[in-house]
Amino acid sequence: MIRPDPAAAPVSDLVPMTPDHLPQALALSQAAGWPHRLEDWALTLSVSKGVSAFEGGRLVGTAICSAFGPVATLNMIIVAEDRRGMGLGRRLMQHVIALAGGCEMRLTATEDGLPLYRRMGFIERGRIVQHQGLARAMKPERPVRFGPADTDMLAALDTAASGMQRKALLARIAATGDTLRTEGGFALLRAFGRGHVLGPVVARDAGAARALMSAAAEQLAGQFLRVDLSAADPLAPHAEALGLAHVGGGTAMVHSARPCAPSDHHSYALASQALG
Ligand SMILES: CC(C)(COP(=O)(O)OP(=O)(O)OC[C@H]1O[C@@H](n2cnc3c(N)ncnc32)[C@H](O)[C@@H]1OP(=O)(O)O)[C@@H](O)C(=O)NCCC(=O)NCCS
Repeated sequence: MIRPDPAAAPVSDLVPMTPDHLPQALALSQAAGWPHRLEDWALTLSVSKGVSAFEGGRLVGTAICSAFGPVATLNMIIVAEDRRGMGLGRRLMQHVIALAGGCEMRLTATEDGLPLYRRMGFIERGRIVQHQGLARAMKPERPVRFGPADTDMLAALDTAASGMQRKALLARIAATGDTLRTEGGFALLRAFGRGHVLGPVVARDAGAARALMSAAAEQLAGQFLRVDLSAADPLAPHAEALGLAHVGGGTAMVHSARPCAPSDHHSYALASQALG
């Protein structure tokens, strides 16, 4: 591939991201083929800090750091197609890495992003598999309740499973979405992208996670549902049985990883590829 001469690139100004930038940010993510709606960008920015690259009034790049206690996720890293290969992605990454302030950093890399992240010291630690489609109803193998739940308790289980302190995020998702509970686990279901996403799914065992997935599919039968699973977990066949086909995914990467305390709970599905 012939790469543009960085010296010939226009210099863009990097400024803190504000909600005013989001309509242009949405256009960037849509041009990259991502399904996010304005509301999805707003949810992420509401619990994060971001950086925007401008050339005059034109937004040409974005990156976000979502700090969740000892772990930060880096996300929404996009450079306008006509500005790629000129060093802007690296500059944006340097800014969000500084925002992470020495925390463990996680991200889900696209094929485009992998070379940049590898060069910046991120290491691969597994595959994320994205499943989606029109949900097919299936009776859950355990009873699942929908309804409000104690956010402190959900956040504590989520932290035990993921190492991230995401109470503010989970509370925001629960406020507009559904909370599903079963013996040994919980999940959140919310509007996202082309329909709904189920995640996080936090459970003690795969049976609880399957029940939560089935309940979500039953609730949304015939409607678009997405779930982002770890390829290391055994839930892909269940997602397929619920009508959620494997459509792609990404590479889970980490930088400055810290040891995680052992836990009897596990994250079976991401809140999103952006938010871990
Ligand atoms: C990923 C992305 C942000 C990179 O932005 P960029 O401005 O093109 O990246 P840079 O020009 O700063 O390149 C950074 C480094 O990665 C390398 N690199 C970037 N793209 C590369 C590619 N396709 N192949 C090989 N190396 C590549 C560059 O050589 C550079 O290395 P260096 O600094 O050591 O010379 C951009 O391609 C993009 O927006 N893609 C679409 C959205 C996306 O997938 N984002 C990633 C989400 S996880």
